[in-house]
Amino acid sequence: MVSIKPANSAGTEVGQPQGAPEPPTTVWALKDLLDTNTLSMKDLELVFETTDTMVEVRERPVGRVATLRGTTVVTLFYENSTRTRASFEIAAKALGADVINLAAATSSVGKGESLVDTVRTIEAVGADILVIRHPGSGAATLAARHTNASVINGGDGAHAHPTQALLDLYTMRQHVGDLEHRKVVIVGDVLHSRVARSNLWALRKAGAQVTLCGPSTLLPRSLESLPVHEGAGTCRVTSNLGEALEEADIVMALRIQRERQEQGLLPSLREYIRNYQITEERLGNANPNALVMHPGPMNEGVEISPEVAHGLRSVVREQVANGVAVRMAILFLMATARRR
Ligand code: CP
Repeated sequence: MVSIKPANSAGTEVGQPQGAPEPPTTVWALKDLLDTNTLSMKDLELVFETTDTMVEVRERPVGRVATLRGTTVVTLFYENSTRTRASFEIAAKALGADVINLAAATSSVGKGESLVDTVRTIEAVGADILVIRHPGSGAATLAARHTNASVINGGDGAHAHPTQALLDLYTMRQHVGDLEHRKVVIVGDVLHSRVARSNLWALRKAGAQVTLCGPSTLLPRSLESLPVHEGAGTCRVTSNLGEALEEADIVMALRIQRERQEQGLLPSLREYIRNYQITEERLGNANPNALVMHPGPMNEGVEISPEVAHGLRSVVREQVANGVAVRMAILFLMATARRR
């Protein structure tokens, strides 16, 4: 077990303070984190317990440790990102790892190098953990097959975004506790949403009652019958937002992904706003204490009104802040597993 010791300004370990949190004892066994469907309920609990530890590390005066000294984390982004990329970099540095950030636009990808060759090259220069974002669904899985480095999927096409789902569930649990039987409504462009898919797997495993809501053209009915081998959660699909929001505990608005609307499946924006924008008035159907979430970046005035986005129920900024601690936990668990 690797200890979570504080680092001095030079990044060296300076000993464990009294009352310092101990990492949980369950063992992480996955080489890669490609989606939440590969995580057991025990894995989810381990991530959340480790995240609690990382939150405490961040609250210390120095806010960093040297636990991952000697580990190299490479972020390889073929798509734009603010939250995921910045939080992985901050998380890796807070654990004492070396970090290299590669953007496809400024790497040899621009000269035609394939994903597989790029991944092999990154491994050859010494990467232990590779965080990848790519517009193609399955890109992270392909990368993981061709490298001994541990691959974390930072979002691949419309497939998966596991660390987003983990930070979402962590934030939900901070506010409502156990998610079993909690009613979670995910609204918007579900068809193109890797966030919705990864949340759905994890939420069902945690026993939540998930409702997916949006225009029928952006709402794959097949998600209703996804086989979940563990957990008692349910999934329901509806295009009726008023009905979906009834007694909701948590409402998550999804970004309208204009860059992925090549098939003309989105009704006009005006129609979308009229029928699906999350507004204070519409939230009148939900539980009075319902949380409002959004993975970001938000199109304020489209999928969510500015009043709701920045209102008292909104935990959007907490989601972003929790992203650092959750990603510290994932990096810690994966790096520790590699050392065993
Ligand atoms: N939620 C999310 O993945 O945001 P970024 O695209 O800014 O990383």
